[in-house]
Amino acid sequence: MAESGGVIMGNVTHNYNVEAIRSEFPIFEQKIYGKPLTFLDSAASAQKPQKVIDAINDCYANEYSNIHRGGYFLSQALTAKYEAARETVRDHIGAKSSKEIIFVRGATEAINLVAQSWGRKFLKGGDEIILSQMEHHSNIVPWQILREEKDIILTVSPIDDKGNFLLNEYEKLLSEKTKLVAITHVSNALGTITPIREIIKLAHNAGARVLVDGCQALPHGNVNVVDLDADFYVFSGHKMYGPTGVGILYGKQELLDVMPPYQGGGDMIRSVTFEKTTFNNLPHKFEAGTPHIAGGIGFAAAIEYMCAIGLDNIHRHEKKLLDYALEKVKEVDGFELRGQADDMAGIISFTMKAAHPHDIGTILDQDGIAIRTGHHCAQPIMDFMDIPATARASFGLYNTKEDIDRFVAGLHKVNRIFA
Ligand code: ALA
Repeated sequence: MAESGGVIMGNVTHNYNVEAIRSEFPIFEQKIYGKPLTFLDSAASAQKPQKVIDAINDCYANEYSNIHRGGYFLSQALTAKYEAARETVRDHIGAKSSKEIIFVRGATEAINLVAQSWGRKFLKGGDEIILSQMEHHSNIVPWQILREEKDIILTVSPIDDKGNFLLNEYEKLLSEKTKLVAITHVSNALGTITPIREIIKLAHNAGARVLVDGCQALPHGNVNVVDLDADFYVFSGHKMYGPTGVGILYGKQELLDVMPPYQGGGDMIRSVTFEKTTFNNLPHKFEAGTPHIAGGIGFAAAIEYMCAIGLDNIHRHEKKLLDYALEKVKEVDGFELRGQADDMAGIISFTMKAAHPHDIGTILDQDGIAIRTGHHCAQPIMDFMDIPATARASFGLYNTKEDIDRFVAGLHKVNRIFA
């Protein structure tokens, strides 16, 4: 098996029928301003295949009831289906037990859960958390909120001008004070794939735990949390062709077992009296209230959809698109690639001499080309590059070379308009 930055790739090659894949996404049937949709914002949120939409519809139309609470047929059947969805997730990331798979609203909630539960219980003043320069706000702000309460230290591990994570500098930061390293697997703002395996190993050698933000890694390939030896690994369904409002906190059972609940409510308890409450077993201890039932089921359908195409095939297809795009953008005057790391996912973050990122976005939009512009919820990396924003094109399993051609034609148009 080959490996790129902790994303495992097999050696099987299949014909990748991207047109057949696109036809499974209803969104591509519509025109935007009379033009075909060129969707290059999958890093923000990916489009949904009919199979996922059907799974969600089916749940509400034919299978619906509350779960974990009813003795009747519908509830029992849907409980089994929801728990099967959890098992699909477990299998997908190679976790040892479904007790380690906590359904949450998304990666953001997963990180907040770890900060508020693990962090509040196990960290004390003077303890240190290492983040990287290119973290998403969701992997910065929860730790700052914790810092207000616990007087912990947040240290930022640097990157170079190309966006490479500097492993040597990171190693120097690790000490006996370091209790947690909270780092992205793939940067949403730059596309950098971090050397996550080495990051984890070095943290463990220093006695620290590691939380990995895997939001931008799992849509593009296979990740095995046991193989990586991640302590916590978080990700969101909506970036993996699944529904919004559902995500996963993976945590090693030994850690989750000793963590206090994050929220109180129904389902997370075993018994309640006004004097005392005892808590439910994992994973339910962390799942207070009625969950996003259709969301969990839709998420499992999305994982199955990706696996049916083949994670290696998706990875290869997107790599080809990235290589093609990186060549094509060289033809665009004044194009400045902002993420140029040695190992990159299908994300092109850029600025242009001629126009502000928002203007680029507006001009491309007129031709039905959807990209994201702004700080990408990662303001510290914008500050590091001394720019307010970038424009970002990100690829998914349904993108084509024609999408890239339209995108690049749009960039030439930007230059013509602002010449
Ligand atoms: N974090 C998402 C992005 O990168 C929303 O666009």
